[in-house]
Amino acid sequence: MYYQIINKSCIDVIKVNFIHEKVDLTFLDPPFNQQKDYAFHNDNMNEQEYWEMMKKVCQYTNEITNKGGAIYFMQREKNTEFVLKVLRETGWVFQNLIIWKKKTSAVPVANKYGKHFQIIVYATKGEKVKTFHRLRINPELPASYKIQRENGVFVTDVWDDIRELTSGYFAGNEAIRAENGDRFHKQQTPLALLLRIILTSSKIGNTIFDPFAGTGTTLVVAHQLQRNAIGIEIDPNNANCIKERLQNIREADLIQKYYKDYICTENLSEIWGDEFEVQTKNTTQLPFCIPTTKSPYTTAGENVYSQPPDTITNRMAQAMGNC
Ligand SMILES: C[S@@+](CC[C@H](N)C(=O)[O-])C[C@H]1O[C@@H](n2cnc3c(N)ncnc32)[C@H](O)[C@@H]1O
Repeated sequence: MYYQIINKSCIDVIKVNFIHEKVDLTFLDPPFNQQKDYAFHNDNMNEQEYWEMMKKVCQYTNEITNKGGAIYFMQREKNTEFVLKVLRETGWVFQNLIIWKKKTSAVPVANKYGKHFQIIVYATKGEKVKTFHRLRINPELPASYKIQRENGVFVTDVWDDIRELTSGYFAGNEAIRAENGDRFHKQQTPLALLLRIILTSSKIGNTIFDPFAGTGTTLVVAHQLQRNAIGIEIDPNNANCIKERLQNIREADLIQKYYKDYICTENLSEIWGDEFEVQTKNTTQLPFCIPTTKSPYTTAGENVYSQPPDTITNRMAQAMGNC
């Protein structure tokens, strides 16, 4: 099992076709082009330019994906039509439009209904799906129900049981914090979301790809589920964060606590794998929260390579040239 963190723009990685491995599942959570403050990215791009960039990423992801493999593309609901178009034009076959309903109150909008969800489009390479585990959960019974369910229910395309990491105390221990207590990355995705996606659409030993890795939630979950993971992140501070997060997995990042939520799933132990020994760190704050100028080309987990780290670094440096 290996993980690989590439500290570069995914567009540069695409230009030199750096990724030689085939992947089975991609989580695509790009900046939403809504003028958020990113240190290494302009989040106020011209619309056309932005969607051309997304198209390049989806196209490349499709090329490196095994037949039947999956992509989950997360976006604002107002961009649904663009996401569907980009995926269709780059060879992906639509499977589901997942509604991730937020737990916090809706964002009010004048002359429109308040916004209460985000979309995740699930698509595959070809009609025939390679892996789809039908997970079962056991949400609380509505008050009007009198009889307990015996075996939970299948997960549907409405996900209303996963709390987003908002600011303040709602974000809890899972949110990575800087020394001053602020959140290290405002767009950190909850582990529970990646857990559902990875359990559903991959097997042990598969390779999971994240071209906009942020704090590395995808890699942290994939690693604990004994899947390989490749993450690209443009910001060196974030790339360093991913490295630290993987090398010293925090208590708050352990996914075992969610096992019981899926206990009604057939063959769960096969999908999840054996309990994984991880080195944990009992803190919510990590050393990477101190800004760094160090910008490694690639970093990777120890003892997990088929190639030693230097080989990867050299290959990357060679491939990238000055781009
Ligand atoms: C929405 S966040 C992803 C958050 C992530 N899912 C997590 O759990 O932390 C998008 C990330 O993409 C990164 N990014 C922006 N442009 C990029 C590019 N061209 N290549 C790679 N990463 C990029 C940003 O720095 C940011 O960390």
